[in-house]
Amino acid sequence: MSTMQSAIVTGAGSGIGRAIARRLAEEGHAVVVADRSAEGAGETLRLLTEAGHTARTEVLDITDPAATQALIDRTPNLRVLVNNAGIFDTCDFDALTAGDFRRMYEVNLVAMFTLCQQAARVLPEGGRIVNLASRAAFGARNYAHYVASKAGVAGFTKALALELAERQITVNAVAPGVIATDMLLERAEGLDGLRAQQPTGKLGCPEDIAHAVAFFADPRAAFVTGQVLIVDGGRSVGGTAAF
Ligand SMILES: NC(=O)c1ccc[n+]([C@@H]2O[C@H](COP(=O)([O-])OP(=O)(O)OC[C@H]3O[C@@H](n4cnc5c(N)ncnc54)[C@H](O)[C@@H]3O)[C@@H](O)[C@H]2O)c1
Repeated sequence: MSTMQSAIVTGAGSGIGRAIARRLAEEGHAVVVADRSAEGAGETLRLLTEAGHTARTEVLDITDPAATQALIDRTPNLRVLVNNAGIFDTCDFDALTAGDFRRMYEVNLVAMFTLCQQAARVLPEGGRIVNLASRAAFGARNYAHYVASKAGVAGFTKALALELAERQITVNAVAPGVIATDMLLERAEGLDGLRAQQPTGKLGCPEDIAHAVAFFADPRAAFVTGQVLIVDGGRSVGGTAAF
């Protein structure tokens, strides 16, 4: 593992993060599967190692700066950091509390900032940071705290891209639309309605997002930085979707 280039993927214990971890492993990285869920991280590790890839888990809460520093310290040859871990919930605007807002910010934005800062101190020329924003960053109903946190991710990505540009480290974000993760598929009712709002007639899958992340992470994408790529099957350019 020590001679391979490493990629850290936070939130790789499920959904989109698991697909990103698999894709970066397929492209030859030693992947660090970082998640607060030991069970989820273990399952991702099993999938990767059974496929012959090099990977290990780190079970941590990304809101703990000492834990994220230890994660960086234990990862040799770091080239790619993917900030994918995030939380989501819905709440009527009138019932939303400042505490709800702060919790959303702590995980989706502040923890991401801390990890970026710690990683930036060791990333080499050609290093890559990819953050998970959301199509919701551009506006949606019933989760203003999530929308605000993801708009923060988009803005922070642009700012950091300029901070790190001279060192030839790129920083970009992927903004997924509705992606069929297990959580969504369990909610069988309403799925047909979501599909009907998609120009493609399909929901996205985690691999669609992993492909966009892999593009930004590619060494050849050296002239692409500070970008937020919406990956939503065209929904953001057609119709009046609220998601
Ligand atoms: N699924 C979608 O439709 C969608 C759409 C837009 C954006 N996104 C974003 O994509 C990312 C992944 O989403 P997903 O659907 O795969 O979600 P998910 O809930 O399936 O996975 C999130 C992972 O992050 C981990 N995590 C959460 N908080 C953590 C913490 N404090 N420390 C360590 N790990 C933590 C969870 O354990 C989980 O494994 C998120 O940032 C999400 O906001 C998802």
